[in-house]
Amino acid sequence: MDNKYKSVPVLPSEITPKSLYLSRRDFIKAAGLAAGSALLAACAPQVTATPSASAPQANGQTDELGDPVNTFEDITNYNNYYEFTTDKQGVAPMSQKFASSPWTVEVGGLVNNPKTYGIEDLLKKFTQGERIYRLRCVEAWSMVIPWTGFTLASLLKEVEPTSDAKFVRFETVYRPDEMPGQKSGFYPWPYQEGLRLDEAMNDLTLLATGLYGEPMPNPNGAPIRLVVPWKYGFKSIKSIVKIELVAEQPATFWNDLAPDEYGFYSNVNPARSHPRWSQTTERRIGEFSRRATLPFNGYGEQVAHLYDGMDLMVEY
Ligand code: MTE
Repeated sequence: MDNKYKSVPVLPSEITPKSLYLSRRDFIKAAGLAAGSALLAACAPQVTATPSASAPQANGQTDELGDPVNTFEDITNYNNYYEFTTDKQGVAPMSQKFASSPWTVEVGGLVNNPKTYGIEDLLKKFTQGERIYRLRCVEAWSMVIPWTGFTLASLLKEVEPTSDAKFVRFETVYRPDEMPGQKSGFYPWPYQEGLRLDEAMNDLTLLATGLYGEPMPNPNGAPIRLVVPWKYGFKSIKSIVKIELVAEQPATFWNDLAPDEYGFYSNVNPARSHPRWSQTTERRIGEFSRRATLPFNGYGEQVAHLYDGMDLMVEY
């Protein structure tokens, strides 16, 4: 194992994202632009990364707000996946050999029909569709991603939660030999997340098994991950092996580490700053100027009612 990646604990106080600044790649692009504009003031060339010949193309796809999907290149090379490394551009190379097959997902807890599914069963059994969603990271960057997958609701209906089930808990695979970040004792492995049952049953909530029409790439959480588009990206847990229906609000990875910074709900809320930075704007990867962050990441019409009567400045 490369020593560089050995258990370097990142304190919550140090998590202030480098990504608030330009990523290294964008910095290089920006530097190229600046140099170009000095030489060729009126027609500065757009310096862009050259996509590899085989990378799937977006073909003009946009989300429902008209924003173009990010490139496959960006989506698969700028990732948060602390099981591998805290370096966003390091996840892709470090996760290359991760074995996402064979794979099973255990669905149990307070349900009438507990079941362990092979990933192939899930792909066969539940209707796969494409959804283009914005992913807004708590670090104030975002991307538009064409996911494929199926609704979490369709799976939950099949296992039949009992009337005592109030929350859903998710767990990522624990394989420190393949995932060097898990050797760090600083983090509360395995990564876990949770949703209230009504959030889990909402039609926006996906179990994603691919993107750009391809099976889920390793850096994005192969072979199956959650996507909850109105919440900060860290709720969208990757490489899930366990889904459990429970009666009490479950513990979550980031809330365990820094409860003052990361709440259970974690709805995208531009009015509530993170204690160390503002959430009012974000940088869309691939763009240079910042854009306003939308409440519930722009999905308020579909989900705001889930929080009627709650003070979302307190329940962050
Ligand atoms: N899931 C696991 N298991 N481990 C992680 O480190 N990072 C989260 C989330 N899911 C994370 C995870 C964070 S902080 C974000 S922003 C999204 O994954 C990033 O998803 P992406 O890399 O596919 O864009």
